[in-house]
Amino acid sequence: MEVTTAVIPAAGFGTRFLPVTKAQPKEMMPVLDKPTIQYVVEEAVAAGIDDLLIITGRGKQAIERHFDKSYELEHELRRSGKDERLDRVQHIADIADIHYIRQKERNGLGDAVLYARKHVGDEPFALLLGDTIVQSERSCTARLVEAAEGCESAMVSLEEVPWEDVPAYGVADIESTASSDRQSFPVADFVEKPSQEAAPSNLAITGRYVLPPEIFQTLEATEPGVGGELQLTDAIRKLDHVRGLPLEGDRFDIGTLIDWLEANVEMALEHDEGEMNTAVRDVLQAQLETDG
Ligand code: G1P
Repeated sequence: MEVTTAVIPAAGFGTRFLPVTKAQPKEMMPVLDKPTIQYVVEEAVAAGIDDLLIITGRGKQAIERHFDKSYELEHELRRSGKDERLDRVQHIADIADIHYIRQKERNGLGDAVLYARKHVGDEPFALLLGDTIVQSERSCTARLVEAAEGCESAMVSLEEVPWEDVPAYGVADIESTASSDRQSFPVADFVEKPSQEAAPSNLAITGRYVLPPEIFQTLEATEPGVGGELQLTDAIRKLDHVRGLPLEGDRFDIGTLIDWLEANVEMALEHDEGEMNTAVRDVLQAQLETDG
């Protein structure tokens, strides 16, 4: 099994982040100097995948413009000798072979994934949610692909979350994670957005998957679930073999103002460019001193 295609759903409204997402896609929210979706695309590319399909929707044109070639800008940067900036701008347009398809109505993540059926064909594919950044030494998708290739199974990245947060996620029902804390383990079932009391565990789906092509037939045979929307989790739970792989590194769901702020501060503190790191440390230090 070889994974050569990645699908990136980026069609959601971003209502939890209004008003900033009224006229711009949440996937274009900058974290440090890059929009969120660029981190996602780079993670897929780091897994050796160069065929990408982004599922967009109304009002998401800025995503296509971001990954497009910008002749005027390149010309201007070349003319003014700003070579380093020119390289960065050219890199964005050359990063991968990116295709787009528009979800016509917002009917849930499962419905968005169904739009990828023709493009993906009869092959397994990686799925990365376009509003979630995973920062790790090794690309999270690369680890999932490698794990899935080893056992011919759907592979879902999972992370322990605080119990009070469980109702915001798809949650895994597992017997044990015994195989080893770095490797995959079988998942018996999933529940999408359970109440805290009904949740079978606090192991949440992080928004990174490797799925077999059978997911498309399964989605078609799945009824709308939570929120009256077609839920991807409801189809994944019907697949024959699904395994979970513990997430390594830090995950940032850029869905709310707080999450976005945290992502910027934490990533700035880890950033190796001294200037950004120092600026954030100075602000935090000054604030601590004022608070006293
Ligand atoms: C989606 C999935 C959910 C997953 C989550 C991760 O939910 O349906 O299973 O745990 O992404 O962020 P959403 O955040 O779109 O409500």
